[in-house]
Amino acid sequence: MNDFVFQSPTRFVFGRGYADRIGGEVAALGAKRALLVYGGGSVVRTGLLARVTASLDAAGVGYVELGGVRPNPEVGIVRKGIELARHEHVDLVLAVGGGSVIDTSKAIAFGTSYQGDVWDFFMRKATIGACLPIACVLTIPAAGSEASGSCVISNDELDLKKGVNGDVFRPRVAVLDPEVTFTLPQYQTAAGAVDIICHICERFFSGAGAVPVTDNIACGIIRAVIDAATTVTATPDDYDARATIMWSGTLAHNDLCGCGRASAPTKRAGGWESHGLEHEISAHRPEVTHGAGLAVILPAWMRYVWRADRERFLAFAKGVFDVEPVDQTDEATQDAITYAIDELQRFFVSLGMPRTLADLDLAPAEVDGWLQTLRQNKGERFGELRPLTMEDARAIYLSAF
Ligand code: NZQ
Ligand code: ZN
Repeated sequence: MNDFVFQSPTRFVFGRGYADRIGGEVAALGAKRALLVYGGGSVVRTGLLARVTASLDAAGVGYVELGGVRPNPEVGIVRKGIELARHEHVDLVLAVGGGSVIDTSKAIAFGTSYQGDVWDFFMRKATIGACLPIACVLTIPAAGSEASGSCVISNDELDLKKGVNGDVFRPRVAVLDPEVTFTLPQYQTAAGAVDIICHICERFFSGAGAVPVTDNIACGIIRAVIDAATTVTATPDDYDARATIMWSGTLAHNDLCGCGRASAPTKRAGGWESHGLEHEISAHRPEVTHGAGLAVILPAWMRYVWRADRERFLAFAKGVFDVEPVDQTDEATQDAITYAIDELQRFFVSLGMPRTLADLDLAPAEVDGWLQTLRQNKGERFGELRPLTMEDARAIYLSAF
């Protein structure tokens, strides 16, 4: 087991109807005036925004609203939020939404005290210093931003989607109310389940060997998500299944599943190859849902690299699908591993996720553009289990059509 530092400072407030508790939670942080950030309108339609503002009113916390964050959020709305936060002298940023809204809130929170342009942080031209506290009411279990030390923002002008990492902007409090996810469209539920599983896989397939405690947690969460996502596909208002997915999404990405698997204690575990490949797609095509892109990319990456670490892939096959090779031969190993990869993809497709990039209305002619920005983001080689060159990346993209 490699050395690690695990910091998950968020207070999780989890339960049925708990969205109404957000005002008290924010007040307990000492906040007097919040910037209330939300997305394209689902929280207005479902009545959640009204519940949140009533809860803030009851707790005596003032607020100013910033709506309209799109999926795969863009730096433009972050800049707008920073101006608003300064002008209104807010002392906390409250996100009501999913990864896109929470990441926008994080960027506003660390951009407000910085005198330069917030995009500097994403270009590594500035280091994050002071940061307003962040709270959230999560509406979609997927990105895990409610507990993660990551923030991912796109810049349409540059065709770039970039992340920054840091513990300082992990949310201070996250209200997780599974009932608010009953209104999710099946496509978003499915994309969320894929993203959750992928966050675990990125860490499971780090270059490190077996770490039994972490590996068992990882495979257990994946199995729980597979069962629960199958249940909500048939019964969207199954509370226990929704609750299972919601808590899984948090544990998948608060770094619990990486303990002992990172190459250095201060590094996140894993090479994040599938995320690196997918982010270029949703950078160039913001209409592609992150999890839907991953549903295609993750199995394609697995098929391309499994020979580099058979033991890890056998551990995955056994831990998630209870499959083992029938004997010690290469052929039996290959059969067990490819069965597990196929089974994972069959599960994604069973939820309504795409099987190929063509299913996402993407064309092979777009690959050159993705590679250009991938090189900008990652250099000539990236990844850990099997470092990928740009030619490897091309081969993986093309294999996914
Ligand atoms: O915008 P509204 O109208 O609210 O609709 C949203 C949006 O269209 C809808 N939705 C959310 N909750 C709902 C709901 N509709 C009905 N009922 C509800 N309860 O779902 C759509 C997707 O929302 P979004 O926030 O974009 O989803 P997600 O949480 O998957 O976030 C994706 C973003 O997070 C980034 C992705 O790259 C992408 O930009 N990621 C962030 C990470 C992090 N910060 O740690 C890690 C991830 O790997 C990921 O990269
Ligand atoms: Zn993700």
